[in-house]
Amino acid sequence: MINTVINDDCFNVMFDLDFNSIDAVISDIPYGIAYETRGTKTRSQDKRESVANDKPEEFDGFYKDMLLHFKRIIKPEGVIILFTAGGTGIVKTAQLITEIDKNFKLIQCIPWLKRPGMGGNYRSSYEVILIFKKDNNLKYTFNGSQRKNYIDNIAGISKADRHATEKPLALMEDVIKTHTNKGDLVFDPFAGSGSTLVAAKNLGRNYIGAELIEKHYKTCLERLSEKKRGLL
Ligand SMILES: C[S@@+](CC[C@H](N)C(=O)[O-])C[C@H]1O[C@@H](n2cnc3c(N)ncnc32)[C@H](O)[C@@H]1O
Repeated sequence: MINTVINDDCFNVMFDLDFNSIDAVISDIPYGIAYETRGTKTRSQDKRESVANDKPEEFDGFYKDMLLHFKRIIKPEGVIILFTAGGTGIVKTAQLITEIDKNFKLIQCIPWLKRPGMGGNYRSSYEVILIFKKDNNLKYTFNGSQRKNYIDNIAGISKADRHATEKPLALMEDVIKTHTNKGDLVFDPFAGSGSTLVAAKNLGRNYIGAELIEKHYKTCLERLSEKKRGLL
């Protein structure tokens, strides 16, 4: 099942993954904030898009089980990198960090300063990247030289056509380059339009993705079948 994306609930997919088999879980999970866009292609009301399992109560229902699965499938020296909400959504991020702190070792908590989005007095301008590993003394992969613990040089996608919460490839490539090596296996349980998987493929990493919604799964397949990087 290497170098594939599966159109299924990631919890079913994770049951099939072996213990200690994944070098890096890298995922832009549902944030638990009931995010809704006015549509990725047009601003008309009937084109509103939301993210599956993104209601606060849905997040509460899955995040602990998700971490238990990660703990089983990640290698002892592997890393887990999750994109989470900033702003008022930080409440859900805090819940996650509390649970991570009980079961893993938090390596870093990195604000990603993206292009300012919607909002009232305060426009939504950052998200939070959590990097953690199993609670042991084994070295994790860190390529390159010492860096700042925030990212401010990669803008968010303002009008994403593929997915309401599409992440820039440059951002995914940055974390993949830093925390994995060529040939490593990257798993994204909440693949969306496949940005993590495409970035992994571009960089010579192996990948497995899961995506619940058929439309997004098909977008992943399309992007992964493109040969030229410029077309991705
Ligand atoms: C925040 S989006 C990821 C967007 C992605 N980073 C991109 O660049 O397109 C989260 C995705 O997880 C999917 N999802 C939600 N619950 C899921 C589940 N239980 N199993 C698999 N996918 C799920 C949603 O359909 C959504 O596409």
